[in-house]
Amino acid sequence: MKTIGLDINKALGAITKEQVYAWEGKANACNALLENGNGAGNDFLGWMHLPSSITEAELADIEDTARILRSQCEVIVTIGIGGSYLGTKAVIEALNNSFDWLQAKRENPVLVYAGHNIGEDYLYELTEYLKGKRFGIINISKSGTTTEPALAFRILKKQLEDTLGKEEAKQRIVAITDARKGALRTLADQEGYKTFIIPDNVGGRFSVLTPVGLLPIAVAGISIRELVAGAVSMEKATDVSVPFAENLAAIYAATRNELYKSGKKIEILANFHPKLHYIAEWWKQLYGESEGKDGKGIFPASVDLTTDLHSMGQWIQDGERTIFETVISVETPDHKVEVPMDEADLDGLNFLAGKRVDEVNKMAELGTQLAHVDGGVPNIKITLPEVNPYYIGQLFYFFERGCGISGYMLEVNPFDQPGVEAYKKNMFALLNKPGFEKESEAIRAKL
Ligand code: PA5
Repeated sequence: MKTIGLDINKALGAITKEQVYAWEGKANACNALLENGNGAGNDFLGWMHLPSSITEAELADIEDTARILRSQCEVIVTIGIGGSYLGTKAVIEALNNSFDWLQAKRENPVLVYAGHNIGEDYLYELTEYLKGKRFGIINISKSGTTTEPALAFRILKKQLEDTLGKEEAKQRIVAITDARKGALRTLADQEGYKTFIIPDNVGGRFSVLTPVGLLPIAVAGISIRELVAGAVSMEKATDVSVPFAENLAAIYAATRNELYKSGKKIEILANFHPKLHYIAEWWKQLYGESEGKDGKGIFPASVDLTTDLHSMGQWIQDGERTIFETVISVETPDHKVEVPMDEADLDGLNFLAGKRVDEVNKMAELGTQLAHVDGGVPNIKITLPEVNPYYIGQLFYFFERGCGISGYMLEVNPFDQPGVEAYKKNMFALLNKPGFEKESEAIRAKL
């Protein structure tokens, strides 16, 4: 198996290689801080050696539960938000057949999501869709009181119980939550749901390789063993013992910090492979929540290309020069589609006849890279040999390790998210939640 690649050559120009390498000492020191646990937020470092410490028994338990759910249910609703949602969705979207869920003879149960919004129409349409279907629920929430998933679970649990009766419904609900505390833990213990644990020392956005991600991913029919194996290989490749010049996570962290210092305040994660859309959504949470604090942090944005070249291309090429681009490039797609010859050739595409669609895509990618670099957008390229569980496992761990190092280089605590509480406080005050009477008065005075 290969390793994913990182190429910063096309970022050089705006910054120099010497400037990137000037961060070597700090990047290594920050990687060591992660390893020895002496940095800020060190009670949330459980993700660091998660891949290499998952046991055979844990994997087998997840796979057994996935097998039971797959045999019992034609639809699985995965409930969760933020770190309890995006990693799972990203892996499944990247690796499953895009049209599997539309096919009558599917290999896998249909996976649908809830609890990641408060859309009344969304919930109505979901409950309508579930009517008459054999469905199960994987409810993921560390706290059990996050409004969005708690609301969705309350509604869907009732629907399941009304359809099957309480006892039967219990067999179709799995809770992934804290080992001891929280509302979902209490309910799961009372009801006797099958449960999995989110370790105390793993924050939501770093939790994809815990049961949070692994159970739904296994339900989707994806090999969690290959995913974990890929992550293990990247855990080794980004270890503190690996010299800076060979350590992909350290180089990525140093390059983006140097670009930030030089005035590039926005990082756009781009892909030319539409199935990677949600990888970017997960990455935005990872870097946004980890670095955007204390008045600092690169703003993480994303585009799907070539799609968004027809909407955001103008801005990227020609707008304010405060951006850099990190492109995830896939070397070999899974399937082959050739451009057919057309006698009339009204679209003028016969010059492409016999070529693979991927060759056209690759030239679009190269042409875009050259145009953007010429337009003053430094470019970092991450190469994925293939989109398979192994390389996706590598990619996830690479970004996580890079994020930990980068956050420490920026001198923030990459493992907290105090800013997320502000909207919740206002929402609870506006909804007159008991205990928020004071805030309620204060906020109403502002309206
Ligand atoms: O990264 C985070 O910590 C957040 O995104 C949480 O994962 C998210 O808010 C969900 O929280 P919980 O799992 O407690 O419902």
